[in-house]
Amino acid sequence: MDTIDTIKQRRSTRIFNNKNISDNDIRTMLECAMSAPTARNQQGWRFVVIDDKQILEEISNGLEHGKMCKEANKAIAVCYKVDDELSQLYWQQDASAATQNILLSATSLGIGSVWISIHPRKEKVDFLSNLLNLTNNIKPLCIVALGYKENILKEINRYDDDKVKYNLW
Ligand SMILES: Cc1cc2nc3c(=O)[nH]c(=O)nc-3n(C[C@H](O)[C@H](O)[C@H](O)COP(=O)(O)O)c2cc1C
Repeated sequence: MDTIDTIKQRRSTRIFNNKNISDNDIRTMLECAMSAPTARNQQGWRFVVIDDKQILEEISNGLEHGKMCKEANKAIAVCYKVDDELSQLYWQQDASAATQNILLSATSLGIGSVWISIHPRKEKVDFLSNLLNLTNNIKPLCIVALGYKENILKEINRYDDDKVKYNLW
């Protein structure tokens, strides 16, 4: 799929069927995640691929806005190793760029995805860190739930001229 079409066609998918996502496709999404830019090329991202149905169910039960994880075929927790000043400053931006690459590569592969927020809510960070056994220096940004979708959501054009200025505000 053409990159611009992929970007425009990406939508949050919250209803999945039970078709399996191949290891090869997970690998492709992770390669795309790790192709994202990072501040001073730190590449501090870490990813937890979740394919254990019990863990997906626990996420679904524990996160009000993550209920779709129960039906997701797999999920990827996007984390970052935060252990110095530079990573503390930039980790959310680096991890967000990687997350967007996962969403876009999933779209391109015909796989539905949704960004489920974890950071900056302390209770969600604590919940996921405990569930996934994350060490103190591994900060979770979000979970991306993944699965083949039941319905193809329509592309939306959100372009708004009022939100764009040239040169000066
Ligand atoms: C930082 C961030 C946090 C989000 N958290 C959630 C979430 O916890 N649960 C959820 O269902 N969707 C979540 N979303 C998805 C948004 O609800 C969704 O992107 C928005 O409604 C626009 O719809 P679209 O993705 O189909 O274009 C999140 C998106 C972002 C960027």
